[in-house]
Amino acid sequence: MNKHLIDRILITLFTIIVAIGQITTINAQVNIQVDVADTGIEISPTLYGIFYEDINFASDGGLYAELIRNRSFEYNPQEPEHWTAEGSTISLVTEGMINEKQGHALKLETTLPNGGISNEGYWGINVVAGTQYRLSFWASPSARGRQAVFKASLKSKDGNVLGQTIIAQKLKKRWQKIEANIIAEASDPEAVFHLQLEEPGIVLLDVVSLFPPTFKGRKNGCRIDLAEKLVALHPSFMRFPGGCYVEGNHRPENAYHWERTVGPIEQRPGHMNANWGYPTTDGLGFHEFLQLCEDLNAKPLYVVNIGIWHGGCTPLDSLQPWIDECLGALEYANGPVTSHYGKMRAANGHPEPFNIAYIEIGNENYNWNMDNNSDQSDHYPERYQMFYDAIKARFPEVQCIGNVQSWGTDTPTWRNNHPVDLVDEHYYRTPQWFVSQYHRFDNYDRQGPAIYPGEYAVTNGYGTTGNINAAMGEAVFMIGMENNADIVRMSSYAPLFVNENCIQWRPDMIRFNSSQSFGTPSYWVQQLFSTHIGNRLVKCDMQWSIPQDEGVYANSTLDDKTGTLYTKIVNLGSTGTTGNLQISGGEATHAEMLRLAGMTGEDENTMQYPNNIVPRPTNVHIDNSGRTLNFDVAPYSINIITTKLK
Ligand code: AHR
Repeated sequence: MNKHLIDRILITLFTIIVAIGQITTINAQVNIQVDVADTGIEISPTLYGIFYEDINFASDGGLYAELIRNRSFEYNPQEPEHWTAEGSTISLVTEGMINEKQGHALKLETTLPNGGISNEGYWGINVVAGTQYRLSFWASPSARGRQAVFKASLKSKDGNVLGQTIIAQKLKKRWQKIEANIIAEASDPEAVFHLQLEEPGIVLLDVVSLFPPTFKGRKNGCRIDLAEKLVALHPSFMRFPGGCYVEGNHRPENAYHWERTVGPIEQRPGHMNANWGYPTTDGLGFHEFLQLCEDLNAKPLYVVNIGIWHGGCTPLDSLQPWIDECLGALEYANGPVTSHYGKMRAANGHPEPFNIAYIEIGNENYNWNMDNNSDQSDHYPERYQMFYDAIKARFPEVQCIGNVQSWGTDTPTWRNNHPVDLVDEHYYRTPQWFVSQYHRFDNYDRQGPAIYPGEYAVTNGYGTTGNINAAMGEAVFMIGMENNADIVRMSSYAPLFVNENCIQWRPDMIRFNSSQSFGTPSYWVQQLFSTHIGNRLVKCDMQWSIPQDEGVYANSTLDDKTGTLYTKIVNLGSTGTTGNLQISGGEATHAEMLRLAGMTGEDENTMQYPNNIVPRPTNVHIDNSGRTLNFDVAPYSINIITTKLK
């Protein structure tokens, strides 16, 4: 075939493709009229927040930056899980611990030089060339005053040394904390940590910890890429630490008890995260959650256990210790340094109060028995009242959030005569269900409690990691929330994080492994909505006509301080169209448009293609009058137009 012919074929193909593109964009229109002078409800400034739960290895092996797995040897009393003997004999010992909180230490015996142990971390340790890793461990000698020479190194699985340090230490005390740095000279996202004894000997080891640089340089801090993904969400609040994680399973010891999660890490025994089936170090503890809220500029929302765990509960007449524990948590966060727990907070490095703004009284503990139309035996209303009264008596500034039925109904209601500041509704459904709920909050009783959809996500029809269909369904629901953000005061998607090596719940907003992370389309919807919202709803009418019928949804909110108009448009359909936005009551001086779109509704992001669906700038044109904006509305798209007004 000669070059001329090839060129002609290519030109013809190109013409056909352009023509098809035009067919999909010219035969329909989305017309939006916004009257900036016609302002509606005030939008709650706390509408968008986040819900953090330790599920899917969100904490250890996730947001919590610790790189050593089973650092305190407490995971399994039978064996030192995740540790491997290398030219040595290792065993667990239970006598003569660092302190009464530690139940086990590792006995390392070597008969040859350079015997030691290794640890693969959480599915590999991410080692990056040029990075300094902070090592600390506790050692107890077999004979006092003995010089011990440790070699700590990070190696690839094939034994290639990425970085190492030699620590010569006189082990004088019964237990001694040893600290050193390892600087990596090469990278490997799945490296292994090794600790060797140069000379044969016996040593006890405990709390072996290795940290990379952390978010904001916090000593016991967070993994930077994951924390930055939270920063980008601009959350106005953070609900923590769960979820079912708060409740525990089978035994009250598995419930969340905040006090065992504060203080130096060697004082934290960790506990079994029984609902999600793995142990936690509690390294990301109550104090770190509060610190993270402060670092994110997000108001803390603490979910407290009210004496109910999965499979059992404390009788009402034995509830006082649980109430005291709750008041202790609030005193730790909000009390003056002169108070018992305020003093503890100061000793842990934060004299100023953290100011918990909200407390949720129980997690999904209102279980209405549909069969006999009665409360189940956990007596949620009575428990709620006891906690509410005790909290308000001492901490009147804290808003109380109540549970309503979370599963088995689309119409949860507050069946309780006691006052409540907000109620927490949970929805895990299909994209279509979320779209069908666009008007859900329109008719909520404005005299009733404020609403906090505290957990919601498309969990049926989301694909593998979370597709654009799911994100669009949630986006339509969220526009509905914005339209009612006088009564819907807060909201949070769930769950937030997943380590792709061990998944208990799908989908999740931020997916990661040891070295990489990405946001799903749902993450980007949360990010776009949270960062593009005004303080007032404005009158927004829309007409659309697209041959096929999935629907277009739009609204506009105005930031009346900066004169910025935010218009959101969701096109659920497979047909692209042209759109125009007519503005009255103001004139546009500048406009920008961001688009989150898929080629099909099933499109998603993956570790290999993390940026397949991310917000991308797209053209928007302002006419000479400053009154009309023209743009394209792509198929399967969520669009944000930011307009500066004069
Ligand atoms: O978000 C996952 C779980 O769903 C939460 O732990 C629980 O509150 C809900 O049932």
